[in-house]
Amino acid sequence: MSEILSMKNVSVHFPVKGGLPFFNRGVIQAVSDVSLTIRHGETFGIVGESGCGKTTLANTMIGMVKPTNGQVLFNGTDLNALPREEFKRTRRQMQMIFQDPFSSLNPRFNVYQLISEPMFIRGEDSEEAMVARVVELLELVGLSSEDLYRHPSDFSGGQRQRIGIARAISLNPSFLVCDEPVSALDVSIHAQILNLLVEIQEQLKLTYVFISHNLADVKNICDRMAVMYLGKVMESGDSDKIFRDPKHPYTQALLAAVLDTSFDERRKQAILQGDIPSPINPPVGCRFWQRCPQAMEGCKTVPPGLIEVEEDHHVACHLVNGFPNGELPQDYDRTLAKPDVRS
Ligand SMILES: Nc1ncnc2c1ncn2[C@@H]1O[C@H](COP(=O)(O)OP(=O)(O)OP(=O)(O)O)[C@@H](O)[C@H]1O
Ligand SMILES: [Mg+2]
Repeated sequence: MSEILSMKNVSVHFPVKGGLPFFNRGVIQAVSDVSLTIRHGETFGIVGESGCGKTTLANTMIGMVKPTNGQVLFNGTDLNALPREEFKRTRRQMQMIFQDPFSSLNPRFNVYQLISEPMFIRGEDSEEAMVARVVELLELVGLSSEDLYRHPSDFSGGQRQRIGIARAISLNPSFLVCDEPVSALDVSIHAQILNLLVEIQEQLKLTYVFISHNLADVKNICDRMAVMYLGKVMESGDSDKIFRDPKHPYTQALLAAVLDTSFDERRKQAILQGDIPSPINPPVGCRFWQRCPQAMEGCKTVPPGLIEVEEDHHVACHLVNGFPNGELPQDYDRTLAKPDVRS
């Protein structure tokens, strides 16, 4: 399967706001040196704790945020090197569904205006064609033409998310980022909207990036995934492989926290302690070492590379791959690692 999007060594830094003018305030390293590939027609999951850079990474994929370093290739072309008009045209193939269907829809617009807005901005369609298209989209997402002139306040959370989905697919995109699309919805609606997303993906042959805190959802619907921590990818690849045999201590801890029934004693001990360090001044070595139950001395200073450990399964961890100077063999027994290096 060929790639629809690939990121090569992408970093995104934001200036720190506030403080004294002309004083060096440093930068927030929201995304650091991320490389990954997303294949045509798949669902690619991004997981990780709040603030680890998931939304920033997704915004960079669709050209909403420019990378400070690195490249984003969409169907092989460097998105950020395109001339303005071509960038706009390409951008239309990439859309986003947001977490909060209450704040992402303008309350003064009616359903027709909300869903047709992207077509209106593009300016290629007649009023008649837009009405017909909106009706078609409403039916696709499980609403009806009777809803055309109603306002967002007339709908439930689940229905509003349906409107958000219709709007996102109105220009026939091929690449859709779903940023926590169901986390604001209650449990029963949650499943309905997920099912709708899966149906639409099959019908329209879409590629999804699915950002979620809910690992059960990721396990159910994602083909491949990346686990992020403090702006870095810790583990990535085939999601079945990652769920079956998580290699990174961070992934193990994340999975143990939610799917504890399927894990053995060693992993149960891996519940995370402490907070995520600041992305303004991240640790020099492995970004996870301060919270890692198996951190070794070298983890403090040597950043681990993301290395393929089996086909389509990459891990950035010295326990798994050894240090670059060969200090640890591949079959190093991770249970021997001393946790006492943490200060
Ligand atoms: N426009 C911005 N300007 C400055 N800092 C930003 C900006 N956007 C994000 N950040 C910072 O970058 C880091 C990553 O944020 P991001 O929103 O990508 O995380 P996230 O993983 O999506 O979190 P959540 O799960 O809470 O949505 C955070 O420290 C955040 O404060
Ligand atoms: Mg986010």
